[in-house]
Parts: sequence; structure tokens; C-alpha cells
Amino acid sequence: MASESVFPPAFLWGASTSAFQVEGGLTAGGKGLSVADVAARAKADVYADTSVAANFYELYPEDIALMAELGLQSYRMSINWTRIYPHGTEQEPNSEGLAFYNRVFDELARYGIEPIVTLYHFDLPLGLHEDLGGWESRATIEHFIRYARTCFEHFGDRVKWWLTINEQNLLARKDKIMHPQGEGDERERSRHRMNHHMFLANARAVSLCHELLPDARIAPTIAWLPSYPATAHPDDVRAARDADDLYNYYATDVYVRGAYPERYLFWLREHGWEPEITAEDEAVLKAGTCDFLGFNYYVTFAAERCPPDAPADYTAILALVVPGRFRYVPNPFLEATEYGWQIDPVGFRTSLFDLWERYRLPLMITENGIGTADVVSEDGAVHDDYRSLYLRDHIREMRQAVAEGVEVLSYNMWSFIDIVSSSSGFSKRYGLVYVDRDELDAKQLRRIRKDSFETYRRIIASNGEDLG
Ligand code: BG6
Repeated sequence: MASESVFPPAFLWGASTSAFQVEGGLTAGGKGLSVADVAARAKADVYADTSVAANFYELYPEDIALMAELGLQSYRMSINWTRIYPHGTEQEPNSEGLAFYNRVFDELARYGIEPIVTLYHFDLPLGLHEDLGGWESRATIEHFIRYARTCFEHFGDRVKWWLTINEQNLLARKDKIMHPQGEGDERERSRHRMNHHMFLANARAVSLCHELLPDARIAPTIAWLPSYPATAHPDDVRAARDADDLYNYYATDVYVRGAYPERYLFWLREHGWEPEITAEDEAVLKAGTCDFLGFNYYVTFAAERCPPDAPADYTAILALVVPGRFRYVPNPFLEATEYGWQIDPVGFRTSLFDLWERYRLPLMITENGIGTADVVSEDGAVHDDYRSLYLRDHIREMRQAVAEGVEVLSYNMWSFIDIVSSSSGFSKRYGLVYVDRDELDAKQLRRIRKDSFETYRRIIASNGEDLG
């Protein structure tokens, strides 16, 4: 069966997590706090924070053994920046932090699981935020590059696949962890300045990786948030294109083509939000273009025209309002999860075609999954048929895209194990493996294979053919 598969032999079937969401060990081994830790702690009266999470920090041998049982070929994970540089500004790395990831990479190697490693998944060191205003300052780029160099030098012998920044386009909208300054236009200027500095950090990390690790491959990964026109009215079609151009393609164009698209700069200038972009910056962006393109896919949106005088919302995840351009509205043709995320497998195939046709760069799916309030049944199992269905439906669409010529390197479902959701604590579960804990009581953190674990095991074993 496997030999008939459309997936090439080098294709990697994987699963994802990120450090602050899975590890726990908040201050263990000299780790510092990150802005993500602090944001989670602010909601700790209701939601699990990052202090214990799923305790991958201590339980990683058990978890990696489960990955091997599942048949994972890749594990997309992140390094917690604050384990390596606890405050962010140190000149020397924290040896205990390095030792932890050495143990993790060695354990993955023992089972032949390929690590796909994100350098920065929302966890900017709090010290950089307090001392420098985080990405507001160009100095943060230097600290990021020192951190990236340390990772390349220490782990480059075992890590061949690197991801620079997770979801920069969405991160730029996460005010609770980015802390843009001021209000109104000043706040938007701050947001776009931070975003520009992250683009520079990404490009310089890509260039550095090319220099230090010529056999490795590196890219950023984006939150791919595509829109359909709400109707066939030309204004709504225009609105959907604007949504894609101003919130998705602007970022992928910088990453792949090494320059901002003119229309995006026009929009920034129109509002007086344009950051300072020097000739040297332009050269940095041009030099540091990526080897492939990573993307996270969960939802699609419908967009309609939005009058210029509508009250703006530049941050809402599911309800963006960009006056004069577009606003998101519900798509009546799609079902949504209990958290309001609209499920759209066909949109996944369309996204693969769109990105491939625009860039002709290999694509890597770094996240795709469904967050639900899973429960343990009386028989002690977790019957998450909806997750099995979600996986099958999305993988079927990906398979079709591959069959029609799209080059996909790897599919990493989100998430391998239950983690602290970035928005809704521990009850919004994404894992194939259930972690037995409540929001506020970490209990014994017992691992339970959900039914979807077996579904995905079969999909992997059949190289994407056994889709039920
Ligand atoms: C992506 C992030 O935005 O989506 C993950 O990279 C996150 O960190 C995932 O967990 C799901 O979002 P949420 O808010 O439901 O955790």
C-alpha cells in the first residue's frame, strides 16, 4: 500500500508542540521568564499557566517513547529562548538550558525522529521586554541573533530543519505578549516597527544558518489565515484579496522575495504607520530569503467590504476589522468548533495550491489540528472521533494537492500531546495524547492515548493512504 502513496519517500509525518506550552519547569535549570509565561500567569486564576504545563521538561523520555510508538518521523518543537538566555541580554548561554535540549535531541535521535526546531515561538525573554521594549528596539535583533548562533552551534549537528519565528503575522497582533506602545495610530506604528524588526531578525537568522550550517534548511512559519469573499460582489472580492494581501502575503513576500510588496507599504504610508526601512535593512531582507515556507493552518474566513469610518479592530483573531478595506464575517457554509474556529479542509488544499503557485518553494505544514474540550469516558478512554475526522479530511486534501504537483516536505499536526492553549488554558485540548490534569490541578499528568492516536498511527504507517 505504502508504495502506491503519492507522498515521496523523504516526506516526514510529524506532530508539533511549542516549549512554553508543553514543558513546564518554569524556573528549572536557571530558566528565566518569558512574556508568554507572564501573560499566562495573568490568567492563572482561571486557566493553567506555564509553570507545569504537560511537564515535558521532566517527562520527555516517556513522551518521546510515545512518539516512537506512534511512528512519528518528525517532531516539530521549539527551544525556549529563556532556557538558553534567561534574561535575554547575557553574553554567555545558560549551560543547564543547553544540556536539557541536548538530552531531548539525543533521545529523539535514538528513535530516528527528525527534530524540526523553532527558535522563537512567542517566548521573548521578559528581560528584553523590560530593558528594551522587546522588538521595539533594534538591539533585540542582536540578542536574538546571539541566541540563534548559540542554537546553531550547539545543536546543528543533530538539527537539520530550523524554523526562525512562529507566526510573526499573528504575533504582531498579540498585544498581550508584544505590548505595543501608545494608543491609536501610535500603537499601530509601534506594531509595524516591531514587525519590521522581526523581519530583520528572521532574515539575519536565515543568513547566519546558511553560513554556519550549509546542509541545514531554514524558514519562518506563518499563520496562514485565508479569506473567501463573503459574496460575489466585486467589493467583497476586493475585500477578501485585501485581507490576504495585508495579513498573509505581505509576510510571505518578505520571507521569500526579500522585499515588502508595494501595496502593503502604500497601506502603511496611507496611515502614517510605515517603520523606518533603511537601505541596509533592504539588503538584509534580500540576503536572508528562506529555503522553504512553513505554515500553520486551522481556519478560513469570509471577508466583506468595510466602510472607512467603521471602528477598527486590528487584533481580534476571528473578527478583524480593517476600515476601508475589509472585515471578517461568519461563513455560513462552514461548521465551527465549540471555540468558534471554522473547519475547512478544502481551504487547506486551496492554500497549498495558492502558496505553491505564488512561490514555487517547498511547503511544510507546521501546525494543523482541532482544539476541543476532550473528556475521559467511563471506560477510561478518550473517544475523539471529531479529531480523527479532522485529520483524515485535511490529510485527504493535502494528498490531493501533492498528487496535483505541490511539493510538501512534511505534515506536523498540532499537537502531539495536550498543551496549554495560547488562548484558553488546558481545557482546549489539541493532543493525540491526553494529559490527565485540570486547569488548576496538575494531578499526576498521566498520559492517555486518545482514539485519534491510533487513527494517526495508521495514517503514518500507510504513508497517508489509510484515511478511513
Ligand atoms: C497557533 C500557535 O497560533 O495556534 C500555537 O502557534 C497555538 O501556539 C495554536 O496553540 C492554537 O491556538 P490556541 O489559541 O487555541 O492555543
